[in-house]
Amino acid sequence: MGRIILEGFMGSGKSTYGRILSGEFLLSFADTDKEIEKAEGCSINAIFEKHGEEYFRDLETSYLRKLCGSDICKDGVVSLGGGMPVREENRRLLRECGTVVYIRASRELLKERLRERSSKRPLLKGENVDEKVDSLMDAREELYLDAADHVLDIDGKEIYEVVNKLKMIYNRGR
Ligand code: S3P
Repeated sequence: MGRIILEGFMGSGKSTYGRILSGEFLLSFADTDKEIEKAEGCSINAIFEKHGEEYFRDLETSYLRKLCGSDICKDGVVSLGGGMPVREENRRLLRECGTVVYIRASRELLKERLRERSSKRPLLKGENVDEKVDSLMDAREELYLDAADHVLDIDGKEIYEVVNKLKMIYNRGR
């Protein structure tokens, strides 16, 4: 048994895959954005608006510290917010506390998905989504790879195909 952690850019499907995988194996599941929203009693959008990005990043790091030192999802699945691996400390914690899988989508696929869903995401609100995806991916691509134990490319794959690959990774890790 063990903890499998899904990282990747916004719109890559981390939460969807995580929820399905946890359901199939009857494992516990946590989505860091949802956990932070629950603890703060407001949406990610509202947290960014009221307190700014750095405050949100601190909440992410605190959550990760708590997760790593606890039994939360110890045998389970954790989906991360897309920016979680940006901080060096977070990448170190991630490596320590589970098997990290980078759910990798091409920029084209991400742009296509995110153009329709930018309003719920503070980093994309009011931005040119294509340009923002490019600039964030330029900055993050290496960091996702740095934190990852496995890379799973999802372009052209059906949901069940991705979940099957995740199952194999999870089984290998137990
Ligand atoms: C962010 C991704 C979001 C959320 C926040 C910041 C990012 O999560 O944590 O809006 O920096 O990429 P999703 O990847 O689940 O959209």
